[in-house]
Amino acid sequence: MSVVSANPLRTGIDADRTGDACAIVIFGASGDLTKRKLMPALYNLALSRVLPGSFAVVGVARREKSHDQFRADMKEGVATFSRRKPIDGTMWSEFEKGISYVAGEFGATKTYEDLRAHLEALDKERGTRGNRLFYLAVPPAEFGPILQGLKSAGVVADNDEPWTRVVVEKPFGHDLPSAKGLNDMIAAAFSERQVFRIDHYLGKETVQNLLVFRFANSLFEPLWNREHVDHVQITVAEEIGVEGRGKFYEQTGVTKDIVENHLMQLLCLTAMEPPISLSADAVRDEKVKVLRSLRPMERRAVADGVVRGQYARGFVRADEVPGYREEPDVAAASRVETYVAMKMHIDNWRWGGVPFYVRAGKRLARRVTEIAVTFKKVPHTLFHSSDGGITPNVLAVRVQPDEGIALRFISKEPGQHTILRDVAMDFRYGSSFGSNTPEAYERLLLDAMRGDATLFTRRDEVEEQWSWMDHVFDAWSASGNAPPPLYDSGSWGPDAAEDMLARDGRRWRKP
Ligand code: BG6
Repeated sequence: MSVVSANPLRTGIDADRTGDACAIVIFGASGDLTKRKLMPALYNLALSRVLPGSFAVVGVARREKSHDQFRADMKEGVATFSRRKPIDGTMWSEFEKGISYVAGEFGATKTYEDLRAHLEALDKERGTRGNRLFYLAVPPAEFGPILQGLKSAGVVADNDEPWTRVVVEKPFGHDLPSAKGLNDMIAAAFSERQVFRIDHYLGKETVQNLLVFRFANSLFEPLWNREHVDHVQITVAEEIGVEGRGKFYEQTGVTKDIVENHLMQLLCLTAMEPPISLSADAVRDEKVKVLRSLRPMERRAVADGVVRGQYARGFVRADEVPGYREEPDVAAASRVETYVAMKMHIDNWRWGGVPFYVRAGKRLARRVTEIAVTFKKVPHTLFHSSDGGITPNVLAVRVQPDEGIALRFISKEPGQHTILRDVAMDFRYGSSFGSNTPEAYERLLLDAMRGDATLFTRRDEVEEQWSWMDHVFDAWSASGNAPPPLYDSGSWGPDAAEDMLARDGRRWRKP
């Protein structure tokens, strides 16, 4: 069957950004991620005219389901979770023609034989040209059987044309040995250039803008070092709790869920040297150097520079919410942390002596992710203000929500007296560019279709991240893994986190 030419997926396409013709095979197609993120992202790529006209999405999961049933499930997901609503009927009816479903056990040879035959048929029907993007939206325990099944069925080949790639979701291991084990397992089926490890924070517009902000402006980079920076604070605060994922959280905790991946990536992009180019390896080489420069956390450093916490009952935006231990599937005496704050040091020429304070937590006062660079105080005070004097300049990159960049500096209040005030210069994405920016998964899926791995984590990066974190976990177990102090839901975390900064004569920002 030839490809229909009046396909709206083919009209007005942005040829410079379009992904290659391909079939995207999603393992874990009945899971939440597919419905909430992946399918809405693909549909929005179609709306943005960057999805290749010749494309197909194949859902693979255990449950028997017809193609039509799967399409209906996906439509419901897109209608609920797409950033652009309501669903565009003409676009959807063309888009859904590319959606199909294969049922099968991940451990059964037959699943992969069925899949291979189905993909070959799609090459003819949809013009997908033998290119395949396998998306593992499944827990790591399923990686082995899937990778083995794909390899044995002969659907993986390390060619430029047609290509085969694999996208891997987090959690990518739970410590260094398990991450290495997963990497070895993947490496047995795919070469590193075929592997796309997702950290969805890298797909966020503001996170990508960090590179542009730092390296396309001459104003800030000369100040971006130990001569001028007093310290850096990185915050990933959420209002939500564990949202029905008590079982997952009991094995994970916020340090493995957020700090080991998202927060470490934010730290790398903030602290890295200018890459020699924007090629995937040049960028990732610089991030790896930051990770290798992180001062290993000795046990004493963990005692002084790491604070854990667990949310207790409280109020978030006037709603009373239960404590972590009252959540479903959470042990009544759980010692899992839902908040962590750490003081990190990057022992290199640029950052020697500049602490990076990072924190992440659930059920905090506000949902906010930001990177705040606090500059050093002026060397001499000329002005004496009745209002607290001269506070240091702060440059805050708001990753979400209200995406933007704010620079705080000191100004004179109008009037006869010299009264100093801290004021802000504010750039907001919403007012400068309009508010409907692409979701992280749109960018990442399209990059994977185009074979651009810049915004994906490389094997050595992931292993360096775990290698550093494992020192912290070792120190916690060596100290008997004491129960974390409780903090009220809706607060900014445990008092001990404030004390940690107070010992250094600093305070956490209240973004
Ligand atoms: C996920 C974590 O990786 O990131 C979740 O597993 C967390 O616990 C989520 O809520 C936060 O992502 P975002 O994009 O909402 O900041």
